[in-house]
Amino acid sequence: MGTPFISHLEPSRLDGYDRTRPYDQQPGHVPKTFSDAMQVREAVFVREQGVPLTNEHDPDDARSCHWVMYASVNSTTEPEERDPRSGQVTKPRKSETRTLPIGTLRVVPFPHPPHPPPGSRYVDNVLVDYESDDDGEKKKEDGHGTATSSGTARPRARTLTSVDEERQASALPFGADRPTTYHDGKEPYVKLGRMAVIPEFRGHHIAGQLWRAAKKWLEDNPTFFNPSVTEMGMDQLKVGTAADIPKWNGLVCCHAQESVVKLYERWGFKVDEGMGRWYEEGIPHVGMFLRLHIKERTPKV
Ligand SMILES: CC(C)(COP(=O)(O)OP(=O)(O)OC[C@H]1O[C@@H](n2cnc3c(N)ncnc32)[C@H](O)[C@@H]1OP(=O)(O)O)[C@@H](O)C(=O)NCCC(=O)NCCS
Repeated sequence: MGTPFISHLEPSRLDGYDRTRPYDQQPGHVPKTFSDAMQVREAVFVREQGVPLTNEHDPDDARSCHWVMYASVNSTTEPEERDPRSGQVTKPRKSETRTLPIGTLRVVPFPHPPHPPPGSRYVDNVLVDYESDDDGEKKKEDGHGTATSSGTARPRARTLTSVDEERQASALPFGADRPTTYHDGKEPYVKLGRMAVIPEFRGHHIAGQLWRAAKKWLEDNPTFFNPSVTEMGMDQLKVGTAADIPKWNGLVCCHAQESVVKLYERWGFKVDEGMGRWYEEGIPHVGMFLRLHIKERTPKV
């Protein structure tokens, strides 16, 4: 493997991205870096973990920053040929060096939908509750996304309140979330996610290098995601004074697959007990938070 390098993509135009098709069958304007991120995500989340292709790309991709790591890989295209009697090489081996995307992650800016309720499950980013047909009691999960009690489980879409709907459609933090161990329910936070390294390259600190690149960028650009008063106006910001304008203060959240909690802990994230445990595409998740110590920068106006 040659020297790996990392590419960074800021929020980009992904309109027309067809979730039913793989990364290499998308409109020409889709940025190459995003297409490469999807190549990795499809290999890991779709083919390895069984997440449906249609659930992999979501509306957060366009407003997120993405990081992709590449490696130069040398592979044989035509093997060496030898004379069977003399053993002399008659045709030398041909090889080519290709640059492959091998790992990715994204950082989603605020606002976010409310913290997942403990015990809930999400399918295609939509919150779905499970309840028993007979007694209305919530079902227990067996850790593989399967309801375990005896009655027939049926998925029930949770009814969104008008507050939920406005919050999800808003370009800004809206209303209050439920307070948890490390989040007061109000403070803007960014969300680290879709972290994946293709199996052959795991264990070489690729994820660690991607996170360090994203962390450095966040520390160097702490106001990047803050809303601009000039662009949006105080009315749209729904704030009375400049002091009320939402401002990122270094808080990072991740929805961690339970099997990967230790890795995030190595990077300083702490499990938020108050967030509980829930299921995304059948995979058990917990919430974790980390506070980056960002320097005060001139606020965006
Ligand atoms: C999780 C994943 C991205 C890690 O990638 P990676 O490049 O192999 O990770 P790194 O080599 O940077 O690991 C950093 C450290 O975490 C450890 N680690 C890596 N994966 C781990 C895991 N699943 N559980 C516990 N520790 C893990 C490594 O041993 C290493 O420890 P060290 O610093 O003491 O050597 C990769 O295993 C993956 O793609 N998994 C499938 C997708 C997934 O689960 N994504 C997470 C969604 S929340």
